[in-house]
Amino acid sequence: MVLENIILEHEKGITTIFINRPEKLNALNRATILELHETLEMVDKNSEVRVIIITGSGDKAFVAGADISEFAHFSENEGAKLAAKGQQLLFDFIENMKTPVIAAINGFALGGGLELAMACHFRIASDNAKMGLPETSLGVIPGYGGTQRLPQLVGKGRAMEMIMTAGMIDAETAKIYGLVNHVVPQSDLFLTYMTLATRIMKNSPVAISKAIEAVNANFVSGVDGFDLEIKAFGECFATEDFKEGTSAFLEKRKAEFKGK
Ligand code: COA
Repeated sequence: MVLENIILEHEKGITTIFINRPEKLNALNRATILELHETLEMVDKNSEVRVIIITGSGDKAFVAGADISEFAHFSENEGAKLAAKGQQLLFDFIENMKTPVIAAINGFALGGGLELAMACHFRIASDNAKMGLPETSLGVIPGYGGTQRLPQLVGKGRAMEMIMTAGMIDAETAKIYGLVNHVVPQSDLFLTYMTLATRIMKNSPVAISKAIEAVNANFVSGVDGFDLEIKAFGECFATEDFKEGTSAFLEKRKAEFKGK
């Protein structure tokens, strides 16, 4: 597949995906969502990739939302399909990936952009970042999971306020809200996510993927997360990574995990 809207960089087990439509503030059009889906699907199957970073090209925007020009004329049915397809291809897909995905928010993360960041496993932001769900100012609601994931991350009252006012919060407020874990100067964003990714890569990929599944289970209705945790915990004991991790500890050496 020819990539026209994203740029990929691979470095020592870390794949960075730059959403690359800076002239449109990296707004998510249909083509970008498809490219992201196919790329993420491919990268998630590559056992050499241990961490994925998603960020925006340029210094102004992570992603300024879904591409408004593509859906402005949509009917009720087309609107519902847009949300369903987007959630399935990108937002739910990322949340359930085996490989850890970190959003590095380097500027505006609005609407579908904030929803994309919220679907990632966690978020860091540069100090110029601005976040919000402005959809109600367009006469619509967040449709890529925003009404569900924002309250999970910041609490119901703050989510209601952000959605009803359609306003933006700055990076420091986002950190106080628990929406992002770290805020750093924009020039330090790369170093910060590479350092975090390098720390993650030292640990068992199998255990990390099971931890993602167990944490996510808390938010799936009808699934008992405690039961899932017990099952996943037990499964770890049958992995090579578990044998390597415990042996390395007892032998006072660094573990070399193979992700098996
Ligand atoms: N969809 C489509 N195009 C978008 C976009 C979006 N979500 N966000 C920005 N763009 C485009 C603008 O139309 C403009 O294109 P143009 O140069 O061809 O006119 C370009 O990106 C630059 O944006 P501009 O508005 O000129 O930049 P700004 O610095 O004045 O304002 C924002 C920045 C983010 C405040 C403003 O672009 C904005 O409000 N964007 C929409 C945010 C939104 O509502 N997102 C939710 C969508 S559901």
